[in-house]
Amino acid sequence: MRKSPLLVRLAVVAAWTERSIADGSEASQAVDSVDCDCYLTNGSVPTYYSQRMFFDFRNLAEFAGVPDTLDDVPDSIHASPSSEYFETDSWTSVWELQTWDNRKGVGELSHGDTVLMVNSPNNVYLEENDDDDDEDAGPETFMTMRTARLPEFQTAAEFQSTQSYHYVSLRMLARTIGDPGAVTAMFTYRHSEELADVQEADIEFLTNGPRDRIQYTNQPSYTLEGDEFPEAARNASVPGDVEWTRWMVHRLDWTPDECVWYVDGEETARISYQTPLDPAQIIFNAWSDGGAWSGNMSVHDAAYLQIQWIEMVFNTTGDDDGSTKRSDAGRSPGRPGRLVWRDHEEDEGGCGHVCSIDERDEVGSVTMLSESSAPSCRVWVSHLSSSGVIRILLVCAVWFSLLDWLI
Ligand SMILES: *[C@@H]1O[C@H](CO)[C@@H](O)[C@H](O)[C@H]1NC(C)=O
Ligand SMILES: *[C@@H]1O[C@H](CO)[C@@H](O)[C@H](O)[C@H]1NC(C)=O
Ligand SMILES: *[C@@H]1O[C@H](CO)[C@@H](O)[C@H](O)[C@H]1NC(C)=O
Ligand SMILES: *[C@@H]1O[C@H](CO)[C@@H](O)[C@H](O)[C@H]1NC(C)=O
Repeated sequence: MRKSPLLVRLAVVAAWTERSIADGSEASQAVDSVDCDCYLTNGSVPTYYSQRMFFDFRNLAEFAGVPDTLDDVPDSIHASPSSEYFETDSWTSVWELQTWDNRKGVGELSHGDTVLMVNSPNNVYLEENDDDDDEDAGPETFMTMRTARLPEFQTAAEFQSTQSYHYVSLRMLARTIGDPGAVTAMFTYRHSEELADVQEADIEFLTNGPRDRIQYTNQPSYTLEGDEFPEAARNASVPGDVEWTRWMVHRLDWTPDECVWYVDGEETARISYQTPLDPAQIIFNAWSDGGAWSGNMSVHDAAYLQIQWIEMVFNTTGDDDGSTKRSDAGRSPGRPGRLVWRDHEEDEGGCGHVCSIDERDEVGSVTMLSESSAPSCRVWVSHLSSSGVIRILLVCAVWFSLLDWLI
């Protein structure tokens, strides 16, 4: 085989990377997710995650049906799941419907709450989409999480992951509709008896407030003594002057250094203060407790978080090497002593086939960005400045020549 000169090789590599930068989706291929060794997210903090899950509620007509609200507390707590879907392995192996309430003792509610709130499995169900004016031929079905104010109490909905995750890019195609006085949310949560030691990254929709505003927080943003940490929270506008009563992809990227939030791929907030450090569960809910944050819901009013799909790429504690574990010395705002994440180059070590859930044509599919050999140059390139690109091109060119020479 004739050896082509280094310059020609450089030109080929340059042209190829140029094209990749210009249009990543053209160069990448739809693949089966079993072929993926890791996932690289796009946006302002590209991050590698090793696993992926996708829950699709758009075609589940056989499980659809809206259960009547239960207006008795014990019935609500002991209600069975609204359909068999919530008893399938694919659901129960990941999620757990919640039945807790906010009673603390006899006749006493949790701090700041003024209304008894009860989580019921009966408030999480699959629903047929009968929206006639859904312009883009909406889904057949979606999941609904309901909260409603009944004469005696507030009935609410929550499910949480059975497992903990250590960093995640979490997305849902969702909308919140209904009456004032409720909060709907998607968040990561690590429990602690001490409020100051809770670690949590939130997306919250307040139906009391303006419907073009979303609350993003690395909790806790307050103390029980009434102090507030404004650095921990953002009150952001939905891009494009629209309201969250419309379907949108809401995304939370919990990375080692900061949390970044997006709506339909556009960044809406970024908080590095109090970024959760330790493994956390993932929770979705719709609730109201008569406290200052949610406000009160009028009796017989209701609000709903409706979800077409949930997708996440994540790491679990299993592949956590322990190096980022928080010391038990306690938490200080900003946590100055923590470890900074290693460079991408280093991290790519164990990942042969890099995939994406961003560069793709169809929701639920996965695209391969690169394979273990030469194309990994491409992935590096997409994160680098132009001087960095030239450096990498040289490395790639030398590498190609070597390979060519060896073959
Ligand atoms: C997730 O795990 C992979 C494989 O261990 C690692 O390369 C990557 O850096 C991890 N991601 C984060 C955000 O820690
Ligand atoms: C968010 O900002 C809007 C507009 O200023 C305001 O009306 C709303 O009350 C704020 N929400 C919260 C929870 O601070
Ligand atoms: C990232 O991917 C999303 C789809 O997941 C897309 O909407 C968005 O425009 C992309 N952002 C960038 C910066 O490429
Ligand atoms: C909700 O209503 C209760 C009375 O039922 C009242 O004590 C409480 O202050 C109200 N909460 C808010 C945030 O207005």
